[in-house]
Amino acid sequence: MATIVSIGSGKGGVGKSVIAANLAMLLAKRGKRVVLADLDVGGADAHILFGLLNPPRTLTDFVERRVERLEEVLQPISAHPFLQLLPGTGDTLATANLPYAKKKRLIRHFSQLQADIIIVDIGAGTSYHALDFFLMADHYVTVATPDPTSVLDLYRFIKLAAIRRVLSAFLSRDAVSEALSDRDFASIEEVIQAVTETDPNARNTASRTLQGFQPHLIVNRVSGKSRVNVLQLKKLLQEYVGGDLTTLGEIPDDPAVTRAVRSFLPVVECEPTAPASLALSQAADALLATMAPRIAVRAEPSTAPAQTPIPS
Ligand SMILES: Nc1ncnc2c1ncn2[C@@H]1O[C@H](COP(=O)(O)OP(=O)(O)OP(=O)(O)O)[C@@H](O)[C@H]1O
Ligand SMILES: [Mg+2]
Repeated sequence: MATIVSIGSGKGGVGKSVIAANLAMLLAKRGKRVVLADLDVGGADAHILFGLLNPPRTLTDFVERRVERLEEVLQPISAHPFLQLLPGTGDTLATANLPYAKKKRLIRHFSQLQADIIIVDIGAGTSYHALDFFLMADHYVTVATPDPTSVLDLYRFIKLAAIRRVLSAFLSRDAVSEALSDRDFASIEEVIQAVTETDPNARNTASRTLQGFQPHLIVNRVSGKSRVNVLQLKKLLQEYVGGDLTTLGEIPDDPAVTRAVRSFLPVVECEPTAPASLALSQAADALLATMAPRIAVRAEPSTAPAQTPIPS
């Protein structure tokens, strides 16, 4: 079964697609069979980063059942034989009729692809679709720039993702609660209140569900004077998530990235010694290191998890 890594952010344009494409390329170079999947609900463009301007098939063909198997949508990438692309849809996935169960089915198909790692580019924002796709991964990577608005948007994204994650624990159990799916909740406490009537164990379930929510952070476009903000961002998010928000890397603002985008190749491929490429390479190693224990743990018998406090 493939391990799924989702890449999300609160604010658009912070570099998710660039980071997703480069991580995918780097993991392929490290001998992993990688699929880069473009689930950008607001408009997909990962294929363009590899110069594939008009992919013959996209995820829409699968979602709308014009093709039976997800494999039929996979596109080889000439840059590396271990790397394949699942192009996103020209129209936005948000307009497709995708209730929770269908989204779950789509992700289940992802994990059954013949690959070691699927990197999923989620797209910006906090729509239900973006949050659901983000949360259906095994590992979560968030991206922000040191810009204060990006920091605040990421804080909001993580907060809403935590709420949505707790809500999903109830959604997947109880068909009736699909009705809750489109309701807005401002806090985890509100979700607990809404489900406690039918599930007296709601608080424990919420606590258990939050325990597995440990998003990672990549700070992109870092320049010398922005470092202080990075520290603030980490502090702010740690307060909310409760646990440790691991930083996988800080990618410098580097003109080599823009040059690479223009030549339709990941920067790690066309300028492997550029500062951004070196930092991306370290981030790929850090990501692999966080994935290794999980793969080992999967084989171990499970032990009862400790309680996680519910953030306000
Ligand atoms: N480290 C960097 N240094 C310099 N420029 C960068 C860097 N990272 C990204 N960029 C620039 O920012 C642009 C936007 O990046 P990208 O498309 O990856 O953002 P995104 O978060 O995927 O946006 P969207 O939310 O619209 O999907 C890139 O085309 C590139 O020019
Ligand atoms: Mg993008």
